[in-house]
Amino acid sequence: MSGRLLEVRGLSVDYRVGRGRLRAVDEVDVDLRRGESLAVIGESGSGKSTIAGALLRLLPIANGTMTFDGLDWASLRGAPLRRERHRMQFVPQDAGSSLDPRWRVRESVTEPLVVAGTATREARERASEMLERVGLEPPLQERFPHQLSGGQRQRVAIARALLSDPRLVICDEAVSALDVSLQAEIVNLLVELRAERGLTYLFITHDIALLPYIADRVIVLYLGRIVEFGAVRDVLDHPQHPYTQGLLSSLPDAFPAGGVNKPVRGEIPDPANPPFGCRFHPRCPVAVDKCSSIDPNTVVVASDHAAACHLVSSTDEPTNPAAPRTSVPSSLLRKARS
Ligand SMILES: Nc1ncnc2c1ncn2[C@@H]1O[C@H](COP(=O)(O)OP(=O)(O)O)[C@@H](O)[C@H]1O
Ligand SMILES: [Mg+2]
Repeated sequence: MSGRLLEVRGLSVDYRVGRGRLRAVDEVDVDLRRGESLAVIGESGSGKSTIAGALLRLLPIANGTMTFDGLDWASLRGAPLRRERHRMQFVPQDAGSSLDPRWRVRESVTEPLVVAGTATREARERASEMLERVGLEPPLQERFPHQLSGGQRQRVAIARALLSDPRLVICDEAVSALDVSLQAEIVNLLVELRAERGLTYLFITHDIALLPYIADRVIVLYLGRIVEFGAVRDVLDHPQHPYTQGLLSSLPDAFPAGGVNKPVRGEIPDPANPPFGCRFHPRCPVAVDKCSSIDPNTVVVASDHAAACHLVSSTDEPTNPAAPRTSVPSSLLRKARS
């Protein structure tokens, strides 16, 4: 099967808080083609992990539909869900906490295969090969999780995820806890594995600097809603939403002399009590009157590039007047191309 792997429409996810509820993800659409890598970015608290939890069927959804790999994913339950779960695998931020501390890592990686019905001996061999592929030589495979570094534990998590032959790999801040040089190593490994195996990624991160390395397209999430989406190239070169522009301004060489460099000020509001109108308006450096009263529509600015902002005009005038063309740091581009 080719074409679309994942189609999510109108996904909303609530958490119960006290006697009320909080909508952490509000009417989100996600499209993912086979073999593509889609990033979801946004500050902490924007709802990224909640989207992952809903996709992985670990959190109940309040609304929406999910079609995944030809299955009506949101409706699967019980035994059929357990049988199909392997199709979507997860690499968390802190793989250490998802590994049993009492097991040698090779056993941790072997076990899901045995549970799925593979003979023990074959499962061990496959686990060992995969661990070697991600950079863990046999002596390291006999260690316990606490005897490995953070980067090595992330490698274990990647090996375990890939052994189930997933159609989709969701990485949630999978390199965020690592120092910068280790981040690059793990990102390179993910990029290689994707090319080698035709993997599809949903790559969740708060770090916009990772985008050119890891993703083809990006969704920018703010307080549970998509404020901009598009090809990474387009979004980095012509960010439309003031929030995206703010995130970009944190990059070292963004917005050279003469450009607008306005980092996002303040704190993300409580989703239990979202601002009226555009949810970003209290923090927006270019907000006008209607931003505090009218919820902006999503405006298409180019093919597969859109933003939800009153100041963005549609296709015939592709750049936001408040947004001069930005320049992505050349160091980022070079690395992304190499
Ligand atoms: N179990 C929970 N109960 C109540 N609120 C939660 C729970 N988990 C997350 N939230 C809230 O939902 C919002 C989105 O959280 P999350 O999806 O973790 O964001 P992100 O991954 O982008 O940091 C936040 O306001 C967070 O406080
Ligand atoms: Mg998170």
